[in-house]
Amino acid sequence: MRVLGIETTCDETAAAVVSVRPDGSGEILSSEVMSQIAEHAAYGGVVPEIAARAHVDLIDRIVRRALDNANVKLADLDGVAAAAGPGLIGGVIVGLTTGKALALASGLPFVAVNHLEAHALTARLTDGVEFPYLLLLVSGGHTQLIAVNGVGKYTRIGTTVDDAVGEAFDKVAKMLGLPYPGGPQVEREAERGDPRRFDFPRPMLGRKEPDFSLSGLKTAVRLLAERIAPLEQQDVADICAGFQAAIVDVLVDRVRAGLGVFRASHGYPSALVVAGGVAANGAIRRALTRLGTESGLRLVMPPPQLCTDNGAMIAWTGIERLQAGLRDGMNFAPRPRWPLDINAQRVHNGKA
Ligand code: KG4
Ligand code: ZN
Repeated sequence: MRVLGIETTCDETAAAVVSVRPDGSGEILSSEVMSQIAEHAAYGGVVPEIAARAHVDLIDRIVRRALDNANVKLADLDGVAAAAGPGLIGGVIVGLTTGKALALASGLPFVAVNHLEAHALTARLTDGVEFPYLLLLVSGGHTQLIAVNGVGKYTRIGTTVDDAVGEAFDKVAKMLGLPYPGGPQVEREAERGDPRRFDFPRPMLGRKEPDFSLSGLKTAVRLLAERIAPLEQQDVADICAGFQAAIVDVLVDRVRAGLGVFRASHGYPSALVVAGGVAANGAIRRALTRLGTESGLRLVMPPPQLCTDNGAMIAWTGIERLQAGLRDGMNFAPRPRWPLDINAQRVHNGKA
């Protein structure tokens, strides 16, 4: 089975062709990603209208390159998958409509993919992880702990009540005058900073419910930065180191709480899977690796290029859903919001 996957929910225009081997493992035949970071950098964040226009400009070329690099034609495929949300509606419409048009024109089955499900299932493409497992999804838009029980079977165990982790990194970077996207910049600064100079709060630490809250930490950083302004280079580095240390402590503590809830309700997970752009952070990776070792749990972190938004995860989810006998009609509408766990009613701050 070979499937084309299309991703346009945020600021990456991406397409990929993925196949499944007879033993069930996945193979990425091509994966094309065009990031629009340069277009958005001047504004310090993603501008939805600019993103939508850029997707329109890029999508044909990206799909063509994905097919060419995989050495396949549309007729060689077994399906077309496109992310149908959640995300910025203008971008979602571009990818979803393109996917539907390609499927319709070539008579292939079409799959409308939930972007979060694609992040959730990536570890099965890269590492063949078995159900059930605990997923920590940490990106610019999402911070959630999810029990992944099967294709289409998700239980949200915890979520942020305010900011996402990546969003907190980006906002802290912005207040310190560092360029967008802030996560990698803050990590770089933190490397030459002293994490002990400033003691930032660790919200929710020790709570039994595995939820997250990051706005208090963000505010603490802002107040401190204002108090000691003007900031010298070393101040910026020390603030970044202190902020990152607080995030690491919070994540480890919240994942530990999530594991407790998982074991009580779902049994023992086959692995702890970390996904989303923030999983590229070295300090976070090291801390979670220690947690895995200490709790005897297999830790799976897909390579950074598959943690950030890409088409391969959409194609793979298309494969998993087609194998489960699922496909979607041409009337599938784009969804700006689309929670993975439809029973999880606690939706905060517009984030599903
Ligand atoms: O998953 P992603 O590529 O896009 C979505 O948000 O869906 O995640 C991007 C987020 C941004 O907030 C970015 O600042 C953060 O991931 N990020 C990082 C690092 N690399 C990317 N955060 C902390 N440390 C990093 N090295
Ligand atoms: Zn994403």
